[in-house]
Amino acid sequence: MRALLNKLYDENHLTKEEIIYLLQNLDDEHQKILFEYARQTRLKYYGNKVYMRGLIEFSNICKQECLYCGIRASNTKADRYRLSPEEIIHCCETGYQLGYRTFVLQSGEDFWYTEEKLIEIIQSIKALFSDAAITLSIGERSYEVYKNLFEAGVDRFLLRHETASRGLYEKLHPGMSFDNRRNCLQVLKKIGYQVGAGFMVGLPEQTAEDLAEDLCFLKQLDPDMIGIGPYIPHCETPLKGSKGGTVDDTLVMLALTRLLIPECLLPSTTAMGTLDPKGREKALNAGANVVMPNLSPIAVRAKYALYENKICTGDEAAHCRQCIERRIRSIGLEVDMGRGDSLKHKRGQASQLHSYLI
Ligand code: 5AD
Ligand code: FES
Repeated sequence: MRALLNKLYDENHLTKEEIIYLLQNLDDEHQKILFEYARQTRLKYYGNKVYMRGLIEFSNICKQECLYCGIRASNTKADRYRLSPEEIIHCCETGYQLGYRTFVLQSGEDFWYTEEKLIEIIQSIKALFSDAAITLSIGERSYEVYKNLFEAGVDRFLLRHETASRGLYEKLHPGMSFDNRRNCLQVLKKIGYQVGAGFMVGLPEQTAEDLAEDLCFLKQLDPDMIGIGPYIPHCETPLKGSKGGTVDDTLVMLALTRLLIPECLLPSTTAMGTLDPKGREKALNAGANVVMPNLSPIAVRAKYALYENKICTGDEAAHCRQCIERRIRSIGLEVDMGRGDSLKHKRGQASQLHSYLI
C-alpha cells in the first residue's frame, strides 16, 4: 500500500486495478498518508490559496428525472421558482461588492431560459463586471447553444458526468443518454470553455470499480474543474430510504483526484458541509482548493433542495462570505477572491500570447 501511494504521489498515475485495490484496502494509517500527499500536491501546484466562487441558483425548474435529485420534474412537492434576469444581475452586484470575481449560475434543465435570454443575462453581467468570470451550470444543450453562449462571454461550464459507469448512469437517469452526456463534455472542451466534470460518491449499488472508473474517466478527460460530493438521499425521490455517501469515502475520492489530476480545481462542496459541520474543512485538508458560497436570495435558498438538510439556507451572502473565510483561515489556508482560472487554462493563454509575440 505504501509503495502504491508513493507511486501515485510521484507519478500522478495508477491503473484502474491499482485504484480498486487501494479503495478496498486503505486503512486509517494509509488514509492519513493519502491526505498528506494530496495536501502536498495542492500546495505544490496552487499554494495555500482557496478560490472563492459566488453561486447563484437561479431556477429549480427541471425537465429531467434523475432518480437521486430533489428537484426532479415529477417531484410535485418542490416549490418551484425562477429568478428574473434583473434578480440574477442583482445577486452578482451583491457578490461583486463582497469581492467575488467568479459567478456560478446554476439551475435545473429549464428551457424557459432560452439562448437569447441567457445571452442577454451574460452580456449584462459582463458589461457591469468585466473582470469577473462567468460559469454556467445548466445541463445539456445543443452544440450551437453552447457555442453561442461561449461567444457571448461565458468562461466556464460545469456538467458533472455523475457516474462513468454506463449501467449505473442509465439506471439513475431515465430518458437521458450516457453517450450524449460525455459528448457534451467533449464539445464544451472543444469550444474552449474551462470545463468541470464530476460525480457523486455513495450512489445506490455503486462499487469500488465504479468509483475507479470515475477516476480513470477524469484522468482521460483532464477537465479544469472536478466537482465531487457525497450522494445525500431526498425523501421525495424514488431513492428515498437509500443509505447515501459518507464524508470519509468522499474525502478519499477527493484526495485521489488531487493526486491523479494535480492541476485541477477541486471544490469542497456544500454537500460535505451538510453531512458534517467540519466537512468542508476536511475536504480542504484532503486536497480541495475551491469553495462556492451561496449568493442566491434568501427567499429561494431552501427551495433549491437537491438533497435534504442543505446548509446556509437562512444565511445572507455576506454572512456566508465571512463564515467560509473564517473556516479557511482556521486550517491555515488563505482566501483568494480572484477569478481563479485553472492552471491548464492559464498555460494555454500564456502559449497563445507567446505565439502572438513571436
Ligand atoms: N445528493 C448529492 N448531490 C446531488 N446532486 C443532485 N442530487 C443530489 C443529491 N441528492 C448533485 C449532482 C448535480 C449537482 C448539481 O448536484 O451531481 O450534478
Ligand atoms: Fe453559509 Fe457558513 S458558509 S453560513
